[in-house]
Amino acid sequence: MKKCLLFSSLCTVLLYLLNGWPKGSPTPSSLSDWSGSRNVTVLLWYWPFGRRVILKGDVCWDLYRIPRCRLVDQRSLLPTADVVVFHNKELVEGRQKLPSERPRPPGQRWAWLSLEAPACSGNLQQYANIFNMTVTYRRDADVTVPYGELVPKEGEGQMTEDVPLNKSFLVCWVVSNYRSQHKRSKVYQELNALVPVQVYGRWVKRPLPSRALLRRMAPCYFYLAFENSADSDYITEKLWRNAYQGGAVPVVMGPSLDDCKAVLPPNSFIHVDEFASVKDLATHLQRVAEDKKRYGEYFTWRQRWGVKLYTDWRERLCKICSQYDTLPAQKVYSDLEAWVSNT
Ligand SMILES: *[C@@H]1O[C@H](CO)[C@@H](O)[C@H](O)[C@H]1NC(C)=O
Ligand SMILES: *[C@@H]1O[C@H](CO)[C@@H](O)[C@H](O)[C@H]1NC(C)=O
Repeated sequence: MKKCLLFSSLCTVLLYLLNGWPKGSPTPSSLSDWSGSRNVTVLLWYWPFGRRVILKGDVCWDLYRIPRCRLVDQRSLLPTADVVVFHNKELVEGRQKLPSERPRPPGQRWAWLSLEAPACSGNLQQYANIFNMTVTYRRDADVTVPYGELVPKEGEGQMTEDVPLNKSFLVCWVVSNYRSQHKRSKVYQELNALVPVQVYGRWVKRPLPSRALLRRMAPCYFYLAFENSADSDYITEKLWRNAYQGGAVPVVMGPSLDDCKAVLPPNSFIHVDEFASVKDLATHLQRVAEDKKRYGEYFTWRQRWGVKLYTDWRERLCKICSQYDTLPAQKVYSDLEAWVSNT
């Protein structure tokens, strides 16, 4: 549990740093036609990690062009809210409680919100038969809030992105929370014995401030997007930001190859499971790096796709409204623990 705390606090810091970033333009999917439907009220019962954001104006429309979505955090609105959202971390750690003693209006949905891997989610057995919907990075959640996604570029055909060939490092990795027993550490050790791996992060006392990170990734042919757990759809900013936005080809470990294929274009990543051994992987990386044409093929997807990071809780919460009309009329997570651990 301690490592989870550490990990999530790192994530918080990262999310916080990213929150100040300019927002991308809204995606076409968020501009769905809502004419005729009423407002949906989403009540956030408490802010994730206690980091309150003042909700002013029509947040979902003003920031994300999501219409008819009232995002609120006043608890007095409980009787009229359509969806009440509870962030898992504060609940399982006992710092927040469900308003179980209050009457629950018929039709109101309680949403379980979490971006953490299952191992860091705590004991969820206590939450059987409470929640009506899940809001997580998983594709099979009621509302999917990934760490990042690809959005089609407008004006297709005109966009050409140069393959960054001015590379000085074969493989790079940023790691703060290094544990030798992690599977990813074993793969790293084995790989590092075969090819040079440039390591950054607290573990090697070479920390990278968020601002400097992308600049450090650009000179890398490949980036080790190694998640610290192997869970469905758990693809974090290690891939979306460090590798994709940094301009390095991600070498993925953690999420399955099928999960990756479902959300990432072909020839945009390399998956550890595609190789029988770390030695084969190392050989592949070396061959690709030596072959300009082949390496360049890992960048052709960028002509059509742009990378969008999700870093703001408000955007994730507004997304509930975009999905609201497609939610099943009646649903209860009778065994949340089983759903989260995917068993
Ligand atoms: C290539 O990278 C080196 C070191 O990162 C930098 O000094 C140089 O200006 C770069 N050259 C080009 C053409 O971008
Ligand atoms: C939500 O869950 C509660 C508790 O299990 C249940 O009584 C209620 O009918 C559910 N509501 C919806 C809309 O699914």
